[in-house]
Amino acid sequence: MYKERLLMKYESKFPRSEELRYYFSPGRINIIGEHIDYNGGLVFPCAISLGTYAIVSLRNDDEIHLYSESISNAGVLRFRLSQQLHKRRNWADYVKGVIVQFKMMGYKVKKGFNAYVYGNLPRGASVSSSASLELLFAEIIRDINKIKISDIDLVKLCQKAENDFVGLNCGIMDQFAIGMSIKNNAILLDCATLKYEYVPLELKENVILIMNTNKSRSLVSSKYNDRCEECSTGLKLIQENYRKISNLCELEENELAEIKDIINDDIIYNRVKHVVTEMKRVKDCYNSLKNGDLESVGKLLNESHKSLKELYEVTGVELDSIVDFAQKSEGVLGARMIGAGFAGCAIAIVNKNEVNNVINTVKKLYKDAIGYDCDILIAETSDRTGRM
Ligand code: GLA
Repeated sequence: MYKERLLMKYESKFPRSEELRYYFSPGRINIIGEHIDYNGGLVFPCAISLGTYAIVSLRNDDEIHLYSESISNAGVLRFRLSQQLHKRRNWADYVKGVIVQFKMMGYKVKKGFNAYVYGNLPRGASVSSSASLELLFAEIIRDINKIKISDIDLVKLCQKAENDFVGLNCGIMDQFAIGMSIKNNAILLDCATLKYEYVPLELKENVILIMNTNKSRSLVSSKYNDRCEECSTGLKLIQENYRKISNLCELEENELAEIKDIINDDIIYNRVKHVVTEMKRVKDCYNSLKNGDLESVGKLLNESHKSLKELYEVTGVELDSIVDFAQKSEGVLGARMIGAGFAGCAIAIVNKNEVNNVINTVKKLYKDAIGYDCDILIAETSDRTGRM
């Protein structure tokens, strides 16, 4: 359906072409393991069926012409592959960032193309629309230039594009989930070593709801980079005065009492405490899921949200309300914010029989409390980015 729709739209912006290529790049949710990817922790994301589509035709020159249906006021953005690429604070920065990384790694990116982009992934909503776009274009560029680069290196390249060109010091979770996922599985990823395991997402009689607060934010201007800084400060203090660890997730929970005085700053200590306890929750969640103990998975989600709210302080009234309403609804095993936080989406694990009730109840309570609607849908998993 998206293919036909895109084709019609494509021809309204770009000349008809003999050879069109179609690509899809998913978004992601994260079951648990929040704000610990950049602290060498374990995360547990999966790709979702909402995502970003592109229809692409090759050009005979080295120009890139981009049009996004969801950012139509930007018009067609154009640049040349042979020119020096500069950040312009528009969505083409994600594409340029990827191209710059390919070139820095010594790959030849010479072929110009037109790309019509369409997506159903809410932007600034913690479901990784940015990483979805980066992987989409990394895949397009790899494909049309016949570049031999592994999937994992493509993932790393996209993270670097985001860090160095776009300017967000994100960890590797989003790009990894989007570039490596297999439908019906979550990925347990060790961000320190990049060792990973596909874990079948067997939810028994339950489904995962994605609850969008419809409050959006821009990550680059949010407090995300501040949190990264606070963790580096904590790590440095621990390394200098306690023991030589290479990342915060190497600390054990029982060491928290010992480092409290060393850190001697409530805010930094709370950030570290979130990281260490969240790492433990990911391990517990993995075991619970493997044992089919969904009740425990739900409890861990609730604990994770509490920690993100009280210790890491990355929630906000919209996320706290939506999660609270869900947690109190009949049939909900657990709920929590996902992604960077501050706004955007939360997830809930819900018994299938109660899904409609939960959706209606949370929607009503949210509207009454916040004053505008939230959107709630059942998550479907997806395969990684690829040509369709
Ligand atoms: C954003 C970042 C990820 C990760 C999450 C929080 O989505 O892009 O790398 O840090 O926030 O877990």
